[in-house]
Amino acid sequence: MKKILVTGSLGQIGSELVTKMRSIYGTDHVIATDIRDNGSEVVKAGPFEILDVTDATKMYNLAKKYEVDTIIHLAALLSATAEKKPLLAWNLNMGGLVNALETARELNCQFFTPSSIGAFGPSTPKDNTPQDTIQRPTTMYGVNKVSGELLCDYYFTKFGVDTRGVRFPGLISYVAEPGGGTTDYAVEIYYEAVKNKRFTSYIDKGTYMDMMYMPDALNAIIDLMEADSTKLKHRNAFNITAMSFAPEEIAAEIKKHIPEFEISYNVDPVRQAIANSWPNSIDATAAKEEWGFKAEYNLEKMTIDMLEKLKRKLN
Ligand code: SER
Repeated sequence: MKKILVTGSLGQIGSELVTKMRSIYGTDHVIATDIRDNGSEVVKAGPFEILDVTDATKMYNLAKKYEVDTIIHLAALLSATAEKKPLLAWNLNMGGLVNALETARELNCQFFTPSSIGAFGPSTPKDNTPQDTIQRPTTMYGVNKVSGELLCDYYFTKFGVDTRGVRFPGLISYVAEPGGGTTDYAVEIYYEAVKNKRFTSYIDKGTYMDMMYMPDALNAIIDLMEADSTKLKHRNAFNITAMSFAPEEIAAEIKKHIPEFEISYNVDPVRQAIANSWPNSIDATAAKEEWGFKAEYNLEKMTIDMLEKLKRKLN
């Protein structure tokens, strides 16, 4: 990774990944792109271009103009939005991905795109979900993610494009908020705890999902992309996780720091159904063995950091 084009740079991951990669690889070596300009640090601090990922020609031209050797393709709709707008999700998630893969093939770029725990479905083993297992998701997002994993593997075996990916769990961060995901409650709960000391969860108690704090997610992307390719038996995509909890457990952790905090429930049937179709916890052994994945933050450590950073941000 010497010169990197990032799509979806103003999303939850991109907002922090671009800044981190600019500090490692050099400001001018990370070209941020997004469909909009929000005037943020990512836009102002280094190269930034407007890019709709369904515009294949523009994507190719930008990658060529900046002579990039790596594409990090992040632009996508998340699970709950994809369920509301399935055709848009197909067109954006799959159309964007194939354009990005084609650009990588033509310009000989290394390639990363995230998959998700959403790539699993109700027939997948729910606990300690293996790396290689049944993947028959019942959501449009999951259909996109499995298709995307297969397509990325295809570009590697057929064309030799160096494609790599991880199955991210729910990502928790204090910089940019996610939008339209099923795991978003685990971000919102911290904002509401700091602002109002109460939170109404749209995910029911007892619903376990894998989660990860953003610093670990950023390190995972960079470590996987820097990993020795001869050590990789898998490519698209590696199970990774840092913790698994249910809403009442994250609430209890927050209560240790904000004793007045209370959680209540008003379950959203759409997002609850999505959550029910996903694993309770996934097994990250392959990622650990093949490229040394590790997570620094558990629920306790993440909660301390999130509350401290959010108090500063919101006051
Ligand atoms: N966080 C994502 C979502 O909830 C899962 O990949 O849609």
